[in-house]
Order: sequence, then structure tokens, then C-alpha cells
Amino acid sequence: MKFPRVNPTKTKSWSKLLAHKNNIKTLDEFFSKNQNRQKSFSIEWNKFFLDFSKTHVDRNILEDLVALAEECGLSHAIDAMFSGKKINETEQRAVMHFALRSNKSNTTKITGVDLKKLQQKIYSFSELIINGHKKGASGKRITDVVNIGIGGSDLGPKMITKALSHYKNNLEIHFISNIDGDHVFEVLKKLNLETTLFLVVSKSFTTQETLTNAKTVKNWLISKLGKKAISDHFVAVSSNPNKAVDFGIEKENIFPMYDWVGGRFSLWSAVGLSISLSIGPNNFEKLLEGAEKMDSHFLSSSFSKNLPVVLALITIWYNNFFDAQSEAIIPYSEYLSDLPSYLQQSIMESNGKSIDRNGAEVQYQTGNIVWGQTGTNSQHAFFQLLHQGTKIIPCHFIGYKHSLHENKEHHDKLMANFFAQTEALMKGKSRPQVEKELIEQGLSSDEIKKIIPYKEFKGDKPSTTLLIDKLTPETIGSLIAMYEHKIFVEGVIWNIFSFDQYGVELGKELANNILKNLKTSSTKQGSLNEELLKRYKS
Ligand code: F6P
Repeated sequence: MKFPRVNPTKTKSWSKLLAHKNNIKTLDEFFSKNQNRQKSFSIEWNKFFLDFSKTHVDRNILEDLVALAEECGLSHAIDAMFSGKKINETEQRAVMHFALRSNKSNTTKITGVDLKKLQQKIYSFSELIINGHKKGASGKRITDVVNIGIGGSDLGPKMITKALSHYKNNLEIHFISNIDGDHVFEVLKKLNLETTLFLVVSKSFTTQETLTNAKTVKNWLISKLGKKAISDHFVAVSSNPNKAVDFGIEKENIFPMYDWVGGRFSLWSAVGLSISLSIGPNNFEKLLEGAEKMDSHFLSSSFSKNLPVVLALITIWYNNFFDAQSEAIIPYSEYLSDLPSYLQQSIMESNGKSIDRNGAEVQYQTGNIVWGQTGTNSQHAFFQLLHQGTKIIPCHFIGYKHSLHENKEHHDKLMANFFAQTEALMKGKSRPQVEKELIEQGLSSDEIKKIIPYKEFKGDKPSTTLLIDKLTPETIGSLIAMYEHKIFVEGVIWNIFSFDQYGVELGKELANNILKNLKTSSTKQGSLNEELLKRYKS
């Protein structure tokens, strides 16, 4: 079965959707036409309730969006991924991160790896460290763990350990990703080497940032505790174990990674070792279970009732038919403060492509820009632009029914804002409403005339609202798997390859050349950065 290669703009449903867009109603009109709109345009699944009634979608539009997915071969694409076909054709690799959380018996057959054995290695190691049975070189209990990695080898574990900090144990987890030495030293200065474990996480084990940071830490460790201490303080996670051994890490301290897991989809693998150390194996298992539940939902639900599919279709609807350039992710939980930056990598590295699966340049918009911050902080930062700016920015609101510390007063206030913002974006505030308020405040008619345009909110701004029961290892597992599948669906429909990342290579090559130049006293004549380099070197 060949991975589909359909130009979405040449499908029947695309033309129908264009026609819908030309006659589009406002959200208010959609609501007044259908009193049951919230019931009709929502999906209830497990501990999730997705309300997408505040998007410019009605029955016919949804039907045509679903038809677009079908015409683009989404069912075939899903089968191809879940049966282990090499759908990452540009790198000739399968895409099987779902297998890492699967309890199905056929995963060993598909992946060729005994994943249960790998999980056991992660769990046993985590328990030894958590319980203090495996100690540092000088016999002291490990208290701190530092994950050294970047991109997918950093963002997922960092986001999840923060999201699940309520469930954490005695270990403190730190992250070093940037090659910025100032940051490295800021992290290290707080740590006691004798009680710190370093995880060097790099799928390729060639990444400049990770290797430079790991080398700095290794040299520091050797200078304080001697070379022998490396075996008690350094662990690697990599699909390139030879390089890890060359670096000085002992073979038994290396956890494997596989070429069929993309870096940005790897938190379920040994890349998630810091997560397992932070919340313990039982909670890590629940994280995997939650993700697997979402996999089953994705595989078995009809497209119109399928969370990742519907969310992907809404993104495509706004991206390709309303020219929306970006989407905002607004979680109403400080625990999820790293979710937007995690999704930036997974979404933008996956779908920021302009060549289709036939090798031709696409003639339509693909990957959207993703950004965001937690509510209510973001309300006091960028919501002005969302409400009264000139751009259309669909927002994803994520909130929880229950808080973790059960402070009802805080949670009610937080969630009142959560619901209010979706309403304000959609309903806006009309001129007559503003006028009435200003009259009540006693303003003169001249003053009212002057100020009224500035106080009007046009409304009709789309948003989706995801209400989840509670932030638990299981629900965050489901949430992340939902976004992973959403990315996949979008890539299938845009007819691009979502699983390579050649776009990040050029900058790395140039940086290496410039680095060579920085080590010499001469400044290369005619270089684009000649004047800047002169000043940097002087
Ligand atoms: O930024 C490019 C990238 O290849 C990401 O896809 C990846 O997550 C990151 O670098 C880190 O790569 P590695 O795990 O090989 O060090």
C-alpha cells in the first residue's frame, strides 16, 4: 500500500470548501441557526470534552472537511503508519512512536525490538536511583538529575516533568539544552556533583550543543571526582551507542533509541528517562497508557468524532481557507507552561515544509505558526491583539475541571477567565452596547463619539475549548498523543512528509564553518557577516 500523494486543492471537497468560505456566516449567525450547536459541535471522550462550536463550521462544512481527509487518503495513511511502513520516505524510515506505548502483542513483530525489555531497563534503573540503591561515586545518594539534550531530546521531557511536577518524588530534575555557557554554569552552580546524575540524551550523538555541554560537565566531574566517577554519574540515551562509548560512557549505561522514533515524538522512549526518574515507573506507565488510549480513539473513531482528526481539519480550514497564519495555544494551568514551546517544535519542525510528496513545490499554505502562553498571564500580555488586532488567530484553550491542590476559589477564578475569553473572542462587544455603557457612565455625546470605535470588540474570533477532567499522567499522555496525531493528519492532507527535518541542517553547517573562522585571526573577505565578525573578534 503506497502512502497517498493527493494534491488537496485538486479534490472535490476542496472546491466545495472554497464555496462554503465564500458564503461564510458569522459565529453568531451559526449559533442563532442552531440552538443545539454546543452539543452538535463537541466531542466527549474519556476524560476530555472538546467544544468546537465556536469555529466557523456547520454540518455541511464538517462533512466536506471530513470528505477532504478521505479524498486525501487519510485512512490508508493511518494504516500505513500503524502497520510499520516506511512512511518517512525521505529518510527511508518507519514512524512507530505509537509502539512505545502499545500493549498490543504485535509490537515486537512490527518494530523488531522487545520494547517491554527496554521499558524494564528504564524502570529498574529509575527505581534504583529513586530508592537510593544506586549511589554516586562517593557513596552519596543521588538527589539531582540533569538532562543534557536539545530539541526533541529536551522539550518533551522538560514539558512533561513540569506538567507532572505535582506527582514528582524526591529527585530534582534540571535541563541543559542551549549551548550558551552562561546557562550551563547557572544550572551547574546550584548542584553538588557528588549527588548529581547526568543523562546525555541525543539520538544521533553528534549534536553540537549536547556534546559540547556534556563535555563541559564531564571535564568538571573528572576534575572534581576523577575519571572513574563517570560510570556512576553519566548515562546516555542514543541510537548511536558507539559514539556514546567513544565519549566515555559505559556500555551498560546506554539506553537505546531507534531510527523509527523521531526526536520530537520520543518522550515515550528512553528519552523520557528523566520523566520516569521524576514521577516513578508507575506514573510513567500511566502516561503511556493515556497515550495508548488516544491511539485507540484515533484508530477506531469515525473522522467526525475523532479528536485529532477534527482538530486537524479545523486547523486546515483556517490555515487554507481563511489565511490564518498562526494558532495560539493557551493552557489554563501553570503546569503546562512549556506546552506551547514543546508544540512549536513538534508542529513546526514536522509540517514546516514546502515540497509535496511528489517532489513538487506546494501551491498552498502548509504548516502553521504555533505560539502561546498560559492563561491568565497571556490575557495580560497578548490578548489585546487577539481581541482587537487585524489578524485572525484561532486559539486552543485547554483547561481542567479540577485543580490539583483543590483550591476552589483560585480555580473558579482561573476557569471563569478561561470560559470568559472564549465568549469575549466570539461575541465581542457591539457599538450600541459600548454606547449604552458609556451613557450610563455619564459621558457626554461628544466624548462617546470619540471613544466608541476604540472600545468596540468586533468578535467572531474562533477558538476551540478542551476541558479535561484533571491533570494526571494519564490525561497528559492522551493530550500529547492527540497533538501527535493531529500533526500527522495535517501532514497527510497537505501532502507533505512530516517526519524529516532537513530545514534545520543549513544553519548548522554554516555555524560550523564560521566557528572554524572564529578560531583564526583573519576575517574572511567578502563574507556576508564580515563587519559583524570583525567587531566580534576585536
Ligand atoms: O533540531 C534538529 C534536531 O534533529 C531535532 O529534530 C532533534 O530533536 C534535535 O535536533 C536533537 O537531535 P539529537 O537527539 O540527535 O541530539
